[in-house]
Amino acid sequence: QSLQRWNQVGENLNKFLTEMGYEVDLQYADNEVQQQVSQIENMITKGAKVLIIAPVDGSALSAVLAEAHDAGIKVIAHDRFITETENVDCVGTFDNNKVGALQGQYIADALDLEHADGPFNLEIVAGSLDDDNASYFLGGAMEILQPYIDSGKLVVRSGQTTREQCATDAWQTDVAQARMDNILTAYYTAEKLDAVLCSNDSTALGAESALKSAGYGSGDLPFPVITGQDCDTANVKAIIAGEQSMSVFKDTRALAKQVASMAQAFMNGEEPEYNDTTTYNNGAKVVPAYALEPIVVTKDNYQEKLVDSGYYTEAELK
Ligand code: BGC
Repeated sequence: QSLQRWNQVGENLNKFLTEMGYEVDLQYADNEVQQQVSQIENMITKGAKVLIIAPVDGSALSAVLAEAHDAGIKVIAHDRFITETENVDCVGTFDNNKVGALQGQYIADALDLEHADGPFNLEIVAGSLDDDNASYFLGGAMEILQPYIDSGKLVVRSGQTTREQCATDAWQTDVAQARMDNILTAYYTAEKLDAVLCSNDSTALGAESALKSAGYGSGDLPFPVITGQDCDTANVKAIIAGEQSMSVFKDTRALAKQVASMAQAFMNGEEPEYNDTTTYNNGAKVVPAYALEPIVVTKDNYQEKLVDSGYYTEAELK
């Protein structure tokens, strides 16, 4: 619940499922794997018919989901993939590789990497190592950016480009901030940073704080191009203030609707609707999926995408 997005996810799921007439038991696991396992065990004991899970660690649920399977419970992975188990029935998510590709392409376009001479300095702030999504975000972005790194047009002065080197434990803002503080001190006293690939908004906030402390955004040192994901209100405000360049919007209402309808299909003894039955291999099987399309939000379209669509009120972004 420390991340705005998951609260919106929970509220929307609760709302749609309740409207459909189901009894909902909504629990948050405080980013703790063991707490999540205990919560799921409890739900199994209490007779849940369907489990909708956004896993803290997607590979840590095999044992408890075997219990769910034995109890005849259907399991839906919500947003984050559940790996290393046969006992997940489907996944409702966004195209996570595309999220990364949109971020990478945004940086490529903003710096005009195709035409400009460069070189430009880039640093990377990736997600948590236990979140399967994080590898797709970074992978999708690097498909776009790696060729420019290889040709020397983009330079990562810290040398930190692997998922392990760039990871942010539990996607925490202060962890991202501390790492960026260190990078700026060690590699950017004489050089300026031109772009920061941040995999999501909570990590972008950390990078932005570090950059501000180092003097970016004042005098003749503009903020670098900074990406994000989720369109959390703090970050949309940063976009409006010119401190963050973009965020990838994944409408929690649309995903909740899709996942609620998956649950409804299972409750009716039917198979949900899927749009991808080949990609989502979790190491134990290919899991049928419905993957929604993420979109880019910037200063130019936030009004239309976030306010006119009713996602936020104008006042929430003040
Ligand atoms: C979600 C992102 C979120 C991140 C941190 C990911 O699995 O897809 O939307 O920013 O977790 O909670």
